[in-house]
Amino acid sequence: MEGKRILVVEDEKIVALDIARKLEKLGYSVNAMVSCGEAALESIQGDRPDLVLMDIELDGEMDGIQATAQIQSIYDIPVVYMTAYADEKTLGRAKVTGPFGYVLKPFETKDLQVAVELALYKHGMEAELLKARKLESVGILAGGIAHDFNNLLAVIMGYINLAKTQLKPEDDIYQNMEMAEKSCLQASELTKRLITFSRGGAPLRKATSLAGLLRGSVDRTLLGSDIRCNLSLPDDLWPVFIDEGQMKQVIHHLVMNAREAMPDGGLITISAENSKVTEREGFPLKEGTYVQCSFKDHGIGIPGENLSRIFDPYFTTKDRYSTKGMGLGLAICYSIIKSHDGLITAASEPGSGAAFTIYLPAAAPQSGVPAVRKGDATGNSIEEGISKEE
Ligand SMILES: Nc1ncnc2c1ncn2[C@@H]1O[C@H](COP(=O)(O)OP(=O)(O)OP(=O)(O)O)[C@@H](O)[C@H]1O
Ligand SMILES: [Mg+2]
Repeated sequence: MEGKRILVVEDEKIVALDIARKLEKLGYSVNAMVSCGEAALESIQGDRPDLVLMDIELDGEMDGIQATAQIQSIYDIPVVYMTAYADEKTLGRAKVTGPFGYVLKPFETKDLQVAVELALYKHGMEAELLKARKLESVGILAGGIAHDFNNLLAVIMGYINLAKTQLKPEDDIYQNMEMAEKSCLQASELTKRLITFSRGGAPLRKATSLAGLLRGSVDRTLLGSDIRCNLSLPDDLWPVFIDEGQMKQVIHHLVMNAREAMPDGGLITISAENSKVTEREGFPLKEGTYVQCSFKDHGIGIPGENLSRIFDPYFTTKDRYSTKGMGLGLAICYSIIKSHDGLITAASEPGSGAAFTIYLPAAAPQSGVPAVRKGDATGNSIEEGISKEE
């Protein structure tokens, strides 16, 4: 939770300074201290914090509750109230703004830490849950439509094929039929992607070496590009418990996105490490052993306002084609990783690249799969930087 940026809204200057000092001691950074609701909104617009600590009694026209209501109507930022005293009526008004916490002044550093950490954790979990629910319902709809649509496409293709047998290849109309057939095949490809997204739910999992899988899949996706790939994998990387076909798709989409983000070529670094996750890390992952694998590029990066939307189906910043630039790649990755009980996260510094990290459950050690299979299919574009874990 360290390094999170907090806006302090407090009209008593000395109290605000004391809170800021406490927060900084705890490892948070205070991105601004303001004394009224209007200034809070202005500050958030210019420099979005991860959390707002809001006094209820404030200078200016708005009190803290009104300011919070406005913040929540525009932004998805958790607010924690801090106040010395609140009557029933004020508490009632505060409640309906859905605060993520309440801390009574004067407070000790520890009280502040508990309130802030719980609020950040709860907000993170809610966002994750909302994303999962949204993708699940869109997935059901998309999968249903894609299925019916695929059946209709099969009938259309059947009639096209039949018509072609009644024509000669030199006929003009035969060429038209070929074009119609090509479009049908593209549409069918799209429906397949939608079906994968909607039912990432049923993977056929077995213990697999991620290293071998990475080498084969990355090569294919980078074919014909000016992109180099640096693979950094420890010798003792645990095997993962995955559906090989589905995970190839994840690797393909992540590498393809990195390729598309670096149209003039560049370097993709893929690194993996063994990772033990414990409940207290506050991760939306069950406690257990995982292999953590990151894909880093040095491309255009992802602006902050897009980061929370990139996993949404049909969110794209690229030119749309019938099967490319549909905004489905990451939605498919998310859905597949989720059905593997894993996690996918994204981080980016706009202008200097993006990094996607996936966590995949490790297979039991007795699975008999070698950790890193050296000498698997490798192409010219891959450099091996096998690292040893301490
Ligand atoms: N490595 C990256 N660098 C910069 N932006 C990225 C990267 N990966 C994803 N994005 C952003 O996320 C958006 C969604 O990605 P996603 O893979 O879901 O769809 P797409 O690549 O636009 O289309 P599709 O994958 O269906 O061909 C992209 O349009 C792009 O804006
Ligand atoms: Mg993509």
